Amino acid sequence: MTAVLVAHAGKSGGTREIAEVIAAELREAGLTAELLDAAEVDDVEAYGAVIVGSALYRRRWRPEAVRLLAEHEEALRNRPVWLFHSGPCGPLAAGKRISLPAGVALLAARIDAERTATFGGRLTPATAKGLFWKIMAAGPWAGDFRDWALIRSWARDVGHRVRIRVTL
Ligand SMILES: Cc1cc2nc3c(=O)[nH]c(=O)nc-3n(C[C@H](O)[C@H](O)[C@H](O)COP(=O)(O)O)c2cc1C
Repeated sequence: MTAVLVAHAGKSGGTREIAEVIAAELREAGLTAELLDAAEVDDVEAYGAVIVGSALYRRRWRPEAVRLLAEHEEALRNRPVWLFHSGPCGPLAAGKRISLPAGVALLAARIDAERTATFGGRLTPATAKGLFWKIMAAGPWAGDFRDWALIRSWARDVGHRVRIRVTL
């Protein structure tokens, strides 16, 4: 059975929940999906395909996700890789596409990763850490802008492509 790694990196759980839903969809599609914090990934050789997702903070990816791509660049180049990031909040979040930060874009090109998906983020007082964050979470950006239907349909599409491309 094809095993897919779903690795995630964030600060307050919103990206992990997206990764959980992606892994659940892949399992529905009959694939084996392993969900791991990006910092916990030691090896990617066991997987037929890899998904890496990061929260966006100040236009950057989380260092654990960047490290995963950099440290396993060669192995990742030999298997299909999908990337997603989560961040946009507020009234304009829906449908917004954010390009990869330059360093991550370079790694994505070297790995020959598929086009990156942008998913809305979550910014709520309950998950906010620190004063600045709490102030942001009280403004127009506050709320949960993760579009679960979009995330599920993206995951189903990835699952379909994994089935086509990977022969284990
Ligand atoms: C201090 C701070 C900076 C942020 N910077 C960005 C950003 O540059 N781009 C973006 O799209 N979202 C940004 N966000 C929104 C987060 O990416 C969003 O809340 C995301 O869902 C957090 O994911 P996590 O819960 O996995 O940490 C920022 C949020 C905070 C609190």
